[in-house]
Amino acid sequence: MTATDLEQGERRDADELPAPPALGGIDHLEWWVGNARAFVGFLEAAFGFDVVAYAGPETGRRDRVSYLLQQGRVRFLVSGALGPDSPIAEHVRRHGDGIRDVCFLVDDVETAYQAALARGAEPERPPPTDRDEPGCVHHAAIRAYGETVHTFLDRNGYTGPFAPQFQPSDLAPPLGPNVGITKIDHVVANVELGRLDDWVTFYEQVLGFDQLTHFDEDQISTEYSALMSTVVWNHETVVLPINEPAEGRKKSQIEEYLDFYGCPGVQHIALATSDIVATVISLQSRGVRFMDVPPEYYDEARERLAGVDLDWDALQALGILVDRDHDGHLLQIFTETVTDRPTVFFEIIQREGARGIGEGNFKALFESIERAQARRGNL
Ligand code: FE2
Repeated sequence: MTATDLEQGERRDADELPAPPALGGIDHLEWWVGNARAFVGFLEAAFGFDVVAYAGPETGRRDRVSYLLQQGRVRFLVSGALGPDSPIAEHVRRHGDGIRDVCFLVDDVETAYQAALARGAEPERPPPTDRDEPGCVHHAAIRAYGETVHTFLDRNGYTGPFAPQFQPSDLAPPLGPNVGITKIDHVVANVELGRLDDWVTFYEQVLGFDQLTHFDEDQISTEYSALMSTVVWNHETVVLPINEPAEGRKKSQIEEYLDFYGCPGVQHIALATSDIVATVISLQSRGVRFMDVPPEYYDEARERLAGVDLDWDALQALGILVDRDHDGHLLQIFTETVTDRPTVFFEIIQREGARGIGEGNFKALFESIERAQARRGNL
């Protein structure tokens, strides 16, 4: 069943459905890229990740290489093809480098997978049949937006590095100052025009998520472009904002993403830190480039955040954005896109109580993104 089918009224009576999969959080994100070794080097040098495990021809894998990177509780699996017939090669040809898999930890893969299918998910990869030996990694996958998949994974009893065929990496640890990223805060999807509600329904029905917030185009618009966004979450560890383009005077940043990625996909990954000033100073010294912020933003932000004790001079010097809601405030900053195509970027976020995603900053952010779009001739 697709999100469109769900919209067309094929909802089942909730009483007939099994409970949604109980997710233990995001286990890892898998990147499919054109040159895994080079992309891994970039994530090490620029973002301070450690390479902790490796799988490839030397470990018995013939079709791909994969590197597991870690920082705090963030884990990226970066995979590249070893030949032209690999699905990774085809994925890269169509989309460029990007996120293939947002992988969830579960207690029992079979139960989670069957529940997701019963609740309307399309199968991508069933659990392997030889899954009964003790101490192995169980996995299965369902399809999500675009060509993105969600793997359900449990490694109950497994004690090896990451998964079978992986060995501890012998790459030297990266040089440079500590970055201090602690965990994934949220993972944002861009979906097609008119499909936001379908995908919200997908996450509600298949995974039992609820809506945390919704913003329509009246709230998120600039002179040129607009978008609508709904945040779905599992009330704990998984927060997935979903964006849809809206009519604007010129091409929206979501449309630019969809044009270059070729279909819906992951737009940005928000990485949490407990000290964003130190993290951004470290990242800048490592060569990471961030969206520029107009000076006028800080005139407006100081009024909006009046009464909050902040080092405004440091925030303005580094280009860090600030927002508040009734639970507290947050600080955030966005990198330039990290892929050749203008598609995927990172956010660094420090939460001081606030649970939002920085909606008060959207307008300032989008005006900055539009300046970058204009430089690429895509506005
Ligand atoms: Fe975000």
